[in-house]
Amino acid sequence: MRATNGRAAAVDEVVLDVRDLRVQFPTRRGLLTAVDGVSFQVRRGETLGLVGESGCGKTVTGLSILRLVEQPGRISGGQILFHGEDLLAKSEREMRRLRGDAISMIFQDPTVTLNPVLRISEQMTEVLRYHRGMRRSEARERCVELLRLVGIPNPEERLDHYPHEFSGGMQQRVIIAIALALEPALLLADEPTTALDVTVQAQIIDLLKRLKRERAGSMVLITHDLGVVAQLCDRVAVMYAGSIVEVAPLREILEQPLHPYTRGLLDCVPRLDTGGRRLRAIPGVVPDLVAPPRGCRFQPRCEAALEHCQARRPRLVEVAPEHFVACYLYPQVLAAEERSDGVPQAVHP
Ligand SMILES: Nc1ncnc2c1ncn2[C@@H]1O[C@H](COP(=O)(O)OP(=O)(O)O)[C@@H](O)[C@H]1O
Ligand SMILES: [Mg+2]
Repeated sequence: MRATNGRAAAVDEVVLDVRDLRVQFPTRRGLLTAVDGVSFQVRRGETLGLVGESGCGKTVTGLSILRLVEQPGRISGGQILFHGEDLLAKSEREMRRLRGDAISMIFQDPTVTLNPVLRISEQMTEVLRYHRGMRRSEARERCVELLRLVGIPNPEERLDHYPHEFSGGMQQRVIIAIALALEPALLLADEPTTALDVTVQAQIIDLLKRLKRERAGSMVLITHDLGVVAQLCDRVAVMYAGSIVEVAPLREILEQPLHPYTRGLLDCVPRLDTGGRRLRAIPGVVPDLVAPPRGCRFQPRCEAALEHCQARRPRLVEVAPEHFVACYLYPQVLAAEERSDGVPQAVHP
């Protein structure tokens, strides 16, 4: 492990260590590589933002951690270490025990969230009964506590309501309560505010902020919205076309973004000083992941692209303490490539 910035990063500080993850889907048009050599770590108590436009592989990365990638898609390479144990080597039975327990996920897909025909109490107590073997009354008590924690008024009474009796924002609070029910060491939150209107979005962000302060657990926050990232994350990994192109502490990303893609995303964030208007969009679209562009995937959309950018795919290199970037505009990235041609890197974010 690295020890930079005078901070001794002990092995046990790392909760999740994703190494060179690759996920592919066979499609009629050919093999689609949704995640292509992704590496990152999540430390204890940390919230890591995974950010990028739609179609960059964020959700697939999140689903991979729980081994929930949809068939016939499959994880075709890499390791996912959770507290040092490789999740890809676990049996399905072991994974079922982990899911919703040590690792839980708030899904982007609304069809896998609340069941419309079951009362909230049934959906919530099930988790506690299955994983903790709690008696009904005990589980109910815990659910009331959880609903109170996420800011639902009159929890004793609300517990027996059906999902449709809750507003969108209140439903999202319930979903968060279920995800937190077993005090997971790692919470994966996939676009937890995207489907909500702006006012409710702000309330859910406030809730997540408060939970972050009160909880010891780590979180991976997946979003296309750097505005959300700015409010919640400690570190940020920027994903583009199946790869991570930049990783840095939040302040660095906001104040010193290095990758042209990160800069492009920041230019798209509505700001107060422009009256909340979007400044501009990054020209072009995320490439087809069946046949991605040669070299750097961002190169066809990049205003700063060099000739070399079409020839090779840059890898993530630590160009400043804790600041990694995969872009040939930085001489260190080119130098690292020349130094270690073909040799996998030992250091990753
Ligand atoms: N079940 C699937 N079958 C085929 N392709 C998929 C499937 N799920 C995701 N993909 C593809 O994988 C890529 C990444 O998708 P996704 O992880 O959902 O992106 P993001 O969450 O960043 O918007 C996209 O090209 C998407 O079309
Ligand atoms: Mg997604």
